[in-house]
Amino acid sequence: MSTDAIVLLKDEHKQIRKVFNDFEKAGENAHVTKGKLVDTMIELLTVHTYLENEVMYPRVRELLPGLEDDVLESYEEHHVADVLVMELMPMKPSDERFHAKTTVLIENVRHHMDEEENDWFPKVREGLGRKQLSELGERLLEARRTAPRSPAQPSALKKVVDAVVS
Ligand SMILES: [Fe+2]
Ligand SMILES: [Fe+2]
Repeated sequence: MSTDAIVLLKDEHKQIRKVFNDFEKAGENAHVTKGKLVDTMIELLTVHTYLENEVMYPRVRELLPGLEDDVLESYEEHHVADVLVMELMPMKPSDERFHAKTTVLIENVRHHMDEEENDWFPKVREGLGRKQLSELGERLLEARRTAPRSPAQPSALKKVVDAVVS
């Protein structure tokens, strides 16, 4: 199994995209299915955001100062997604705003993942090279073992608060 950090993160993007597509394909009244898909979505996004916030972004910032703007913009995009996730979490699929809020979350996260994959991850690959990306991947795998799986866990929001406040 590859430990290349970008390969690992893109693999998580792929899982997230799959759940997004399944949600869009689910029938309008498929409340049980949609509720479960949103639960899965929230869990995947919580883990993924944590790994990028805690491990990937700080390391990129440290090693590639030229990408500072991309990293800061990404923190802000994560923050917007976090807010939507927090609002979505207590909602029931039958709630009036459940579908609209999920749709906006999907649109935002897709845009963000596209930017990572097409725009600045390639610059990270170029700047770090294979060895450092593999070391970063090891750290991601290590952090994944203890990563929060629900936004209700305090560690899920720690880095965002640090990044925004400090
Ligand atoms: Fe991200
Ligand atoms: Fe990502």
